[in-house]
Amino acid sequence: MKQKKQANKRSILVTSALPYANGPIHLGHLVEYIQTDIWVRFQKMREHECYYVCADDAHGTPIMLHAQKLGISPEALIAKISAEHQRDFAGFGIGFDNFYSTHSDENRELAELIYLRLKAAGHIESRVIKQAFDPEKEMFLPDRFVKGECPKCCTVDQYGDNCEACGATYAPIDLKNPVSVISGATPIEKEAEHLFFKLDHFAAMLRAWTGNEGVAVSTLQTEVTHKLKEWFTAGLQDWDISRDAPYFGFEIPGSPGKFFYVWMDAPIGYIASFKNYCDKHAVDFERFWAKDSAAEVYHFIGKDILRFHALFWPAVLEGAGFRKPTAIFAHGFLMVNGQKMSKSRGTFIKAETYLKYLNPEYLRYYFAARLNDRIDDLDLNFDDFAARVNSDLVGKVVNIASRCAGFIKKRFGGQLSAQCSEPALYQEFEAKGDEIARFYEQREYSRAIREIMALADKANQYIDEKEPWVLAKQKNRDAELQAICSMGINFFRALITYLKPVLPEMAVQSEMFLNAGELTWSSVQKPLLAHEIKKFKPLMSRVDAEQIEKMIHESKQEAAPAAKIATAATAVDDPIAPMIDYAAFSKVDLRIARIVAAEDVVGADKLLCLQLDIGGETRQVLAGIKAAYSPQDLIGKHTVVVANLAPRKMRFGVSEGMVLAAGPGGKDLWILEPHEGAMPGMRVK
Ligand code: 2FM
Ligand code: ZN
Repeated sequence: MKQKKQANKRSILVTSALPYANGPIHLGHLVEYIQTDIWVRFQKMREHECYYVCADDAHGTPIMLHAQKLGISPEALIAKISAEHQRDFAGFGIGFDNFYSTHSDENRELAELIYLRLKAAGHIESRVIKQAFDPEKEMFLPDRFVKGECPKCCTVDQYGDNCEACGATYAPIDLKNPVSVISGATPIEKEAEHLFFKLDHFAAMLRAWTGNEGVAVSTLQTEVTHKLKEWFTAGLQDWDISRDAPYFGFEIPGSPGKFFYVWMDAPIGYIASFKNYCDKHAVDFERFWAKDSAAEVYHFIGKDILRFHALFWPAVLEGAGFRKPTAIFAHGFLMVNGQKMSKSRGTFIKAETYLKYLNPEYLRYYFAARLNDRIDDLDLNFDDFAARVNSDLVGKVVNIASRCAGFIKKRFGGQLSAQCSEPALYQEFEAKGDEIARFYEQREYSRAIREIMALADKANQYIDEKEPWVLAKQKNRDAELQAICSMGINFFRALITYLKPVLPEMAVQSEMFLNAGELTWSSVQKPLLAHEIKKFKPLMSRVDAEQIEKMIHESKQEAAPAAKIATAATAVDDPIAPMIDYAAFSKVDLRIARIVAAEDVVGADKLLCLQLDIGGETRQVLAGIKAAYSPQDLIGKHTVVVANLAPRKMRFGVSEGMVLAAGPGGKDLWILEPHEGAMPGMRVK
């Protein structure tokens, strides 16, 4: 087997999006971390210089308020979450070279440096804007922390940025009857000076950069460039990068009481995490981040945060004299069993919960088998998951080693043959390496897996044809038996080498069994001959469907205490429910109602028109529960209704009350079954 020339050694820095230090890692997050980790492991196996850094995204209002609610400091909260995140990532074999925090000295220094450079170059402008302000909490309110009635269609209980019923977008202060989600107070409008980044100064650069002009690797995927064109057409707006105290973040130099908006210092956290790594490991930081750097920088992200990475980030870097990313690799969202992850269905699965029941490498393999270089959503179908892992990994790959290892160990003292008895067939395994590598490089993992499994089929077919178990019973066939099983072990070794980026733990176990050091991409070029292997131990067990059920059951239970009564118009989980006092609560007349009629509302995506019997009186209520129920399924069911809500004229008619339902929202909302709701008209205490 001739040695192939090693490709030129590249210097590569890779990041995944920084998770908010505000909640647990779940399977939705893991699509990205697994996708990135596979790519990084592949680059390392190709013997390139490659670093993978990440950090917790630790700043912002939600984290500040979450800490307040827990009665701890934000620093204590982010330290706790960081430990949990790192535990979960390690559990899934995500091999960061550095996992840091945006609340770090390095990030503060870099954020200040970048800002001051942008300011000095005239890219920052100060302007007074009007904002919603909570007079009780004495703080400005982010859009999602104000609720009220849509200024356009009057649907109640809408967030301050857009209406779920009619799709209108607006500012929080435009809402009718707005309330602060934090205190329940009526927000007032207050002026404040804000700092803006002049994105349009970079329009020409961004057009060239996002248009993949003059680059070897496309800066952006094709679907993404289309999206960007729309944004260019809409015009590049100034970007508000400051927030007023109280805010958990970095104070802006020269602007006391003003803080960098979390999205300003979050991507700088990529650089800061790498800087922290460089300082600890004597790596030349400038070589990666100087304007003329020849190193490659890649950001793996979800499609929802493209605007920050494909517009603001390159412009900020350009304006501050840093190099720009080589490319942004976006992916789609995770669906489970064909639907959005859902707490009530038990498909919103935390990393920690998964790890209690299933082998992390099952998920790594399944995601790899489904991932490509596009931004389509990825469906985790649990039946398919079990079938694929069992058939491919257990049934095909591991089976090859277990069919051959026993004979080699028992009959030949663990010694492999000195000759490669099937050079042509082995050559096919070696030759496929380039194509498989190309697929990994292009993030076409599903195609890489398809090729690897085709090789696994070939190896099994070879063993089936040669029937070593028959030879083992015959006299004077030892040399043949040893040669066949040695080929089988070498085929297995090639497969594990190609699967190593996806299955790092199985690769380590296999390396111990093969007893020949670490597998790199070029290992396949030289088969193991006249070499002693170790005893074979089972490398992976079959997926147990019962464990999947237990995991889903536990995830449902975890969600149960969080499920709350939501007004049917909201249909979303509030970050924080507004506080009301007893006097306010005692004014609410809650009654059991029987749904006597229900029908679609023409032109409304989310509303149903219900006729409710509230004990001798019929009320018409427009309820935003269409995603959860078909009209015919509602008839006869009971619900709790706010009976003394003043009638409201909405775009689609008059609503004479408010229906309450339980659940996180969307499809997951429940109205009472007839036996659960007592008599229509009864008061709820
Ligand atoms: O969307 C998010 O979860 C953000 N925390 C991602 C930040 S990525 C980067 F820019 F820091
Ligand atoms: Zn509306």
